[in-house]
Amino acid sequence: MEKSLMIKEIERLKKEKNAVILAHFYQEGDIQDIADFTGDSLYLSQVAAETDADIIVFAGVHFMAETAKILSPGKKVLLPVAEAGCPMADMVTEVRLRKYKEENPDRVIVCYVNSTAKVKAMSDICVTSSNAEKIIKHYKDQKLMYVPDKNLGTYVREKFDLDMEVWPGFCCIHNDLTIFDVMDMRKEYPNAQFIVHPEAKLDVIKMSDFVGSTKGLLNYVIESNHNEFIVGTEEGILHTMKKACPDKIFHILSKDLRCYDMKMTHLSDVYLALKEEQYEIEVPEDIRIKAFQAVDKMLKLS
Ligand code: 13P
Ligand code: SF4
Repeated sequence: MEKSLMIKEIERLKKEKNAVILAHFYQEGDIQDIADFTGDSLYLSQVAAETDADIIVFAGVHFMAETAKILSPGKKVLLPVAEAGCPMADMVTEVRLRKYKEENPDRVIVCYVNSTAKVKAMSDICVTSSNAEKIIKHYKDQKLMYVPDKNLGTYVREKFDLDMEVWPGFCCIHNDLTIFDVMDMRKEYPNAQFIVHPEAKLDVIKMSDFVGSTKGLLNYVIESNHNEFIVGTEEGILHTMKKACPDKIFHILSKDLRCYDMKMTHLSDVYLALKEEQYEIEVPEDIRIKAFQAVDKMLKLS
């Protein structure tokens, strides 16, 4: 089907089925453009909690659609590509976390939203990259364990000098960034500011002019007086940045900043998701109720 016709069909199906399309900033540009809401993990989970649509099509990865289902159990939540996951989310399993909790009953478990419903259900509170600092500060006098992102966990621990252990998980995309990538790009673009997502390693973060979630990075470039940036996060955000700031210049820090899972979804998958109502996300109610408590606590503190 021709692209323009597909877009018309998507619009028609959305109205017919009272559906809403949510797209993460790492999705392909054409998907971000047809979405009703585009944003970071926090914003999209807030939208999922509040929408009165009957169907949520989540153009993103599995944990994002699952979080939408945790917050909106009465809605049909669809993930256009069933295999689109987040490797980091699978780096902490329910079995290993249970063992850790048995051995460390005094530690409060803080889980990154990039985690499974089962892990959220075993955690005391959930955070995203845009609220991790604010929320973890509420627990600053307690003994903590942060799962699964060692980089974001280490960044927050250093910043606030916390008693916080970190799980050895990581984002394969951000974790590969090195200080040499930054040095090379700074040499090539000496007038550019370097901005980075906190899933990068601490030595890379320390070289940045600004660190933030995808939404935080977007707001920064919009509000900044600078007009040239080296961007240390997944390349999909450049589409949004260029649209928001057509006169500013953006360079991706590394050509490898492409999330394979995020890029599995194409416009045709979004169309088929709406047409065939696939692939539906289910979360067993006993797990959902416990996971909801961790996510809801986060939304209230955000
Ligand atoms: P944000 O919450 O910043 O959108 O990040 C999500 C993510 O998966 C980053 O890799
Ligand atoms: Fe997961 Fe990294 Fe992809 Fe984000 S960029 S979805 S953390 S693999």
